[in-house]
Amino acid sequence: MMKSQTIEQMLSDWMRDAFLKAFPDMAGQGLTVSVVPTGSEEHGDYQCNQAMALGKALRKAPRQIAEAAIKAAAPHAAVAGAEPAGPGFINIRLRTEWLASVAAAIDSDARCGVPASGDGRSVVLDYSSPNVAKPMHIGHIRSTVIGNALDRLHRFLGYRVMSDNHLGDWGTQFGIMIMGYRNFADAEALKAEPVEELERVYVRSYERSQQDPDWLTQARQELVKLQAGDPENRRLWEEFVRLSMVEFGHIYDRLDVRFDLVRGESYYNDRLAGVVETLKAKGIARESEGAIVAFLEEEKLPPCIVQKSDGAFNYATTDLATVASRVAEFKPDKIVYVTDERQQLHFRQVFALCRRLGVTTDLEHVWFGLMRLPEGTFSTRQGNVIKLEKYLDEAEARALAVVKECSPDMAPERQKDVARAVGIGAVKYADLSQNPQSLVVFTWEKALAMDGNSAPYLQYAYARIASVLDKYAEQAPGKRLADFPIALGEPIERTLAVKLARFPEAVTRATETYKPSALADYLYDLAQTYSSFYQNVPFLKAPEGVRESRVRLCGVVAQVLRQGLKLLGIETPERV
Ligand code: ARG
Repeated sequence: MMKSQTIEQMLSDWMRDAFLKAFPDMAGQGLTVSVVPTGSEEHGDYQCNQAMALGKALRKAPRQIAEAAIKAAAPHAAVAGAEPAGPGFINIRLRTEWLASVAAAIDSDARCGVPASGDGRSVVLDYSSPNVAKPMHIGHIRSTVIGNALDRLHRFLGYRVMSDNHLGDWGTQFGIMIMGYRNFADAEALKAEPVEELERVYVRSYERSQQDPDWLTQARQELVKLQAGDPENRRLWEEFVRLSMVEFGHIYDRLDVRFDLVRGESYYNDRLAGVVETLKAKGIARESEGAIVAFLEEEKLPPCIVQKSDGAFNYATTDLATVASRVAEFKPDKIVYVTDERQQLHFRQVFALCRRLGVTTDLEHVWFGLMRLPEGTFSTRQGNVIKLEKYLDEAEARALAVVKECSPDMAPERQKDVARAVGIGAVKYADLSQNPQSLVVFTWEKALAMDGNSAPYLQYAYARIASVLDKYAEQAPGKRLADFPIALGEPIERTLAVKLARFPEAVTRATETYKPSALADYLYDLAQTYSSFYQNVPFLKAPEGVRESRVRLCGVVAQVLRQGLKLLGIETPERV
């Protein structure tokens, strides 16, 4: 049962059958019934609010409808009982023995009971996608970390994932870049901090172009030469991309992020003219004031320029070519883009144009709020940008100080290893635990918190359980925990088992809503429940049998924490 469905799905199906049995006339009306976890345990474990919604259609009091559905419900192995409540809610209580069997099933299942609901469907995930010749700063961490969590979640659910780092490696800025490089580049600086140097020469060249029309003209000529395939400019551009990739690569290594594909915008360059031709031929775009424009009045969106009057193509044109190429090559069921909130209109326009072009693939834009400082936005000009490398260094350094303090007798190499896992974990979790769409105000304290709702807290909970398991093995050598049944005698044990049984729901929800925060919230809640279990019932000192059941339950918590954190890209050292 757990193998193929979450409890929510299982109970929803069960309740749906009950409603149809009680009200056969509803058959064929596409009745969907959803059962959700209750807010508090006194109301049972799950609840169904369908009777409230059906009152009007059935011309009956919801309370009566609820009662009829409960009466019609077939006995179910997982359900202890269902009761009507208030004006027409149905509260469902799970059988304690069944919950114990679910906990035991998770114990012996590498997937922790999570159904492979992705079912081989394929998805292209477009994330991180930084722009070449600019250092990544902490604003870039969100797309990378959220995108990577979605990547891991989809793979785990059995989707076929093609992750693609759609680098910003093409565009008008390269004319300015080439001029800057030729005139201002400093060989020493290029060696020491190549991408920072590239950014510096770009800024300088750009400023010059604003004051000096000749400079601007020359930059445009360099761009035309590059686009026409001039070997020298082409060589420079390749060098910019190469230097940037080396630096991005360091960051991806540290964050344990890997892509199946790294196809920058340049990859689609040859297809842009064809896209504009197709749009014109299909009557989707037409000439307007020298430019080629797609008008999106029907979709109530502003017009989208696909080719400027000087012949240059736009960001949207590249994305249209990219969709066409991905659809033809990978035949994906969906394409998901992870960027900041400022690109919402861009993707609405691109998706609308794709629809008009007949693309049927599901297209999703997962956007996230910008990261700000308490005093305002980051800006290169104000010099308050925090470079991503520095951020990760700082995180690891702060974690190392804590590890040294807490575990002074750990070998220094090991301390460094743990500090890396804890520091990087803290940074990722600080980001993943927030609703992606909320604005993040960055503070070092919050990003590197070592307690409360943070990765270090969860990593610590995990390590604490690992040591309980070690102690048990010392205490009872040769005993196999799996030979003992799990029994849920105490209320807190039952509560813990209910939470464990919800892991599949949390993973599924985080994936389907594109919100890794749903999984983070779940893990934090589980760790807190574990903590009160730990404080309230003895386990290593409990009588044999009870002791094994409890230690086994600890093991299941550890397994779920480890798997859950892994899906967020966070490591779980055995000792911290
Ligand atoms: N390079 C863009 C940026 O840094 C993000 C690209 C997102 N992906 C896409 N297919 N448009 O803002």
